[in-house]
Amino acid sequence: MTKYLEILDDKPELIKRALRIVMGRIEEAIALRGVCTIALAGGSTPKPLYEKLAEQSLPWAQLHIFWGDERYVPADHPDSNQRMARLAWLNQVPIPEDNIHPMPTEAADPQQDAAAYDATLRNFFGDRPWPSFDIVLLGMGDDGHTASLFPQTAALTVGDRLITVGEKQGEPRLTFTVPLINAAHSIIFLVAGANKQEALQKIFHSDADGCAYPSKLINPDHGVLWWLLDAAAGDRLAPDEAIYQTKARPEP
Ligand code: 6PG
Repeated sequence: MTKYLEILDDKPELIKRALRIVMGRIEEAIALRGVCTIALAGGSTPKPLYEKLAEQSLPWAQLHIFWGDERYVPADHPDSNQRMARLAWLNQVPIPEDNIHPMPTEAADPQQDAAAYDATLRNFFGDRPWPSFDIVLLGMGDDGHTASLFPQTAALTVGDRLITVGEKQGEPRLTFTVPLINAAHSIIFLVAGANKQEALQKIFHSDADGCAYPSKLINPDHGVLWWLLDAAAGDRLAPDEAIYQTKARPEP
């Protein structure tokens, strides 16, 4: 497992760097496996990345889009992560609709929809214990949550399925489980803003446990972990060089 931590000057630079890494991973996955599977993050940070991906020329038929988490709202709801990615990216490009695999939220039963998406993944990837996505994009909240894995919630310890139900202040959300995220070939955190500083300090420089700061639970089993921060979020970090290769700016 390889970890990279990069602190970019500002959010536009972070997005430019993320684009370069994502494009490199897409090219590599398609060259190696003929297809690239990418799980999208929600929230606000990744939206400009999706807008830039909409400007790229990609082998759309070989790209399969999934979501790493979803608010439990209709697909046309303003809070929907699916809606955000479709408006910013997927509606602008000729990707086959069959290649877009949104998390279902229509059963009025989050557990049922979580089980349905679990089955969707098993059907797509075949019945290996933990499918390896080529790319999992993640954001991080100022409380250290990622995907919909919130502090001190039961979702953090679910290890017997791919998809579970997370909750944010009682509001249900569908989410990848920790082991599914960690099975990925490339995990890319996009974190911007001074409000993320405290959680980052806890994650990188304390023995705070993952239940308190769930992003700390993200460590790929065999793949590469990229933390991409803007200076506002990461300037106070002085990462342990032994863990994070901050000098060698790896060519994606
Ligand atoms: C969501 C995301 C969530 C998000 C973080 C950071 O559904 O909201 O998956 O985990 O990535 O809350 O959000 P920002 O990028 O808006 O800071």
